Amino acid sequence: MSSDLSQKMGEMDISKKVTGSDESADGSIAKPFKTPLAALTASASFIDTASFLIKKAQVADAEPTDYQPLAPTAFKKAKKAFELNLKKSKKHAETQAKESASNLAKQQEEEKRIENSKSIVLVQDPSLPPAKFIKINDAVNYRDQRVNVRGWVHRMRVQGKDFMFIVLRDGTVNLQCIMTDRLCHTYEALTLTLESTVSLFGTIKTVPEGKSAPGGHELIVDHWELVGKAPGDSEAVSNKVSADSDPSIQYAQRHLVIRGDNQSAVLKARSYTLRAFRNHFHSIGYLEVTPPCLVQTMVEGGSTLFSLPYYGEEAYLTQSSQLYLESCVPAMGNVYTISESYRAEKSNTRRHLSEFTHCEIEAGFISFEDLLDTIENTVCGVVDNLLNDPVSRQLIEQLNPTFKSPSRPFMRMKYEDAIIWLNEHNVKREDGNDFEFGDDIPESPERFMTDTINRPILLTHFPGPIKSFYMPKTKGDPRVTDSVDLLMPNVGEIVGGSMRIDNYDDMLNAFKSAGLDPDNYYWYLDLSKYGAFPHGGFGLGVERFLAWITDRYTVKECCLYPRFPGRCQP
Ligand code: 4AD
Repeated sequence: MSSDLSQKMGEMDISKKVTGSDESADGSIAKPFKTPLAALTASASFIDTASFLIKKAQVADAEPTDYQPLAPTAFKKAKKAFELNLKKSKKHAETQAKESASNLAKQQEEEKRIENSKSIVLVQDPSLPPAKFIKINDAVNYRDQRVNVRGWVHRMRVQGKDFMFIVLRDGTVNLQCIMTDRLCHTYEALTLTLESTVSLFGTIKTVPEGKSAPGGHELIVDHWELVGKAPGDSEAVSNKVSADSDPSIQYAQRHLVIRGDNQSAVLKARSYTLRAFRNHFHSIGYLEVTPPCLVQTMVEGGSTLFSLPYYGEEAYLTQSSQLYLESCVPAMGNVYTISESYRAEKSNTRRHLSEFTHCEIEAGFISFEDLLDTIENTVCGVVDNLLNDPVSRQLIEQLNPTFKSPSRPFMRMKYEDAIIWLNEHNVKREDGNDFEFGDDIPESPERFMTDTINRPILLTHFPGPIKSFYMPKTKGDPRVTDSVDLLMPNVGEIVGGSMRIDNYDDMLNAFKSAGLDPDNYYWYLDLSKYGAFPHGGFGLGVERFLAWITDRYTVKECCLYPRFPGRCQP
């Protein structure tokens, strides 16, 4: 028996225990086939002259004499299968050839269409009424009128050769625009990409019964112009970032991410929220101040200070404008600011940013109870302001459909009782022990308590050692201070505030105990020297407030370009 392909062997023993290999066989004794079909397939071009042998029995080191011809029925069966396979692969090859020919034809037709499209120039019909340039959110006032809208191609759908849907975004709201016939035939139309800017002319029409579109109307386009073309293919916006992209890509491409439906809605809600804070404070007679961010004093502990060289001296980015606000009260009455604060927070959590927007107030001649009421009134006043405005209400409904204004009064709970609550609910410290009076309550147990109670909690009277140097001891209980945090379900602490020490000697001692040089705070000490007055205030993290009302997982989604360890771009 020769070892070339003129004699193929299918190797099977009587007990049907099959050996050989169809993958590595060559038809020799050393490398026999496993199945007759494979042997036939390998001998396709000389099937009629080849002889197909099968091993008589399983023997090691088979000799040619151990093989016998394949039984005619087995050969017939294998040949039938082989012919069927042959037919199938012929058909497959034919289909493939047809497909590639049709693809080529289509490609050529497309190329021709694109080439022809270059000569199509759209001209506005002079008999049409002039189109007024409007913002899309005004379209409801221009139904059945001819208008011009300009913006970005937010979504796009091409239906056949003569029909295109564009969802146009102009920063206000979105508009569905319909382009037909010649408008779809230009080079610009055939190569239009997402995020390109366009100027569309047409008539605003209510959508037909049974159809829906943003605002209940659509633009029937009669003329359009391309303003700025966005790249396609690998540079296309959808290839740069998507909802499934890794968070690091999402943060790096945030300038594009913010164009998305939800992220732009959060930024809009943020703008309305800032306005609502200003409206609220204006309505209660507080004046806005804008204190400096470059400072040489710390407010909330040295461990989170960002320092920087300042003309040969050391300066910091402010942690809080509180001390400056306090200095404004004798000059301007009650004040507030909405400014950036900075914290070199080492940990990367859902609720910490290195730079955050801090809404702070300071009020004179108030009691601690007044301060608690002011916090509650501010939060509820701002929420009312937002829900009373149809645009901000709609944004909140879009982002957080189940949002309801918090019921009043807020629960008031002393720190001491929170420690008892945690122990009663078997919440342990990190070291596995029960919480004790004097312990700082970390984020996770605080969240557990707030989420379980599921109402806003004004948590008050924290022990002095775990709070800031400027907080006065509570009369009648010197273990604690007139201090407060507002805790919100799903977010945790959104407000921190307190009364302030207003006695000169107490203040001096407070600086000394905190290891701070009172000379650096000479201007602050003058507050309790030149007309001391009872006062207090609070700071509210705008991103945390927004995470609460818009139901975002992290505060990083609630500011334009979040800053946190490892990210200072874009
Ligand atoms: O509790 P904090 O540290 O209080 C102060 O800064 C006071 N000086 C404020 C005052 O009385 N004028 O911060 C107040 C609030 C916190 O409740 C939180 O909402 C927010 O500021 N905040 C942060 N938000 C995001 N990232 C951070 N790293 C934050 N640190 C504080």
